[in-house]
Amino acid sequence: MLSVVPSPVTVRAPSKVNLHLGVGDLREDGYHDLTTVFQALSLSDDLHISPAAALTVKVSGEGAADVPTDRTNLVWQAAVRLAHLAGRVPLVEIAIAKGIPVAGGMAGGSADGAAALVGLNELWDIGLARDELMSIAAELGSDVPFALHGGTALGTGRGERLLPVLSRNTFHWVLAFAKGGLSTPAVFAELDRLREIGAPPRLGPPEQLMQALAAGDPEQLAPLLGNDLQAAAVSLQPELRRTLRAGVSAGALAGLVSGSGPTCAFLCESESAAVAVAAELAGAGVARSVRTASGPVPGARILPPDTQV
Ligand code: C5P
Repeated sequence: MLSVVPSPVTVRAPSKVNLHLGVGDLREDGYHDLTTVFQALSLSDDLHISPAAALTVKVSGEGAADVPTDRTNLVWQAAVRLAHLAGRVPLVEIAIAKGIPVAGGMAGGSADGAAALVGLNELWDIGLARDELMSIAAELGSDVPFALHGGTALGTGRGERLLPVLSRNTFHWVLAFAKGGLSTPAVFAELDRLREIGAPPRLGPPEQLMQALAAGDPEQLAPLLGNDLQAAAVSLQPELRRTLRAGVSAGALAGLVSGSGPTCAFLCESESAAVAVAAELAGAGVARSVRTASGPVPGARILPPDTQV
């Protein structure tokens, strides 16, 4: 019998910034109910998936040394789940080229999980529909469905229930990567602690923010950006305050902590403004490294076969 070895696939998955991250009270299952507006950004990870003698995960690029290559990596979990569904053994090598900072609040691990789902569905010719991949994504982690979805979306529940949001134009961002990472559970726990000892302000509903997105106007959007986790991230890494101030002094329209941090995201009025703000922020020495990015971009997607990562 002729056995055909499937051709390798390359998948790109975006990072995200939460334009609005409203955090409810701690639930009995240990999660918090969220009302969030995600935007997928051009800063991304690429996965190259090829047939191999055993399940192997390799990582290169931004923060590679801090990424686990065992079953704790979401790509490993994605491979085991899809292999089980397809009734096969997960004999693949997954090479992750990281552009998204590790433990940075930009859902890099979730992006990799989403990319693995899309890539293996193709490599193994499983034929799962988008909504089936979405339910597996939600089991892998709260941010994985959005990394599949991409664009701009309203997330509720743990953040895994998504509705597309109308967004006109491309928005331009500067991202400041911090020296260390922050653990997402630790930041949520710090917010619970701050709420026990005081009453940090809570965001209202994101209606106005969604109108600004529909209008495609960065100046209208800037004052409406907000993140309930920011106080907790700043409490754990007080130097973020200086980073946030430096971005605005450098000419950004507004800055906020991305998700659970510690990456800070700065909205700029144009691409050229973002390049200028990035240069000034890099010179200010408040961040480990500084990048520009734009959004919204699509969710995890297969790249043409000849793409080098
Ligand atoms: O879903 P995921 O495994 O990515 O979540 C990581 C951790 O972040 C959870 O264990 C929980 O501590 C926290 N979290 C939360 N509420 C959410 C999402 C995440 O408290 N909606």
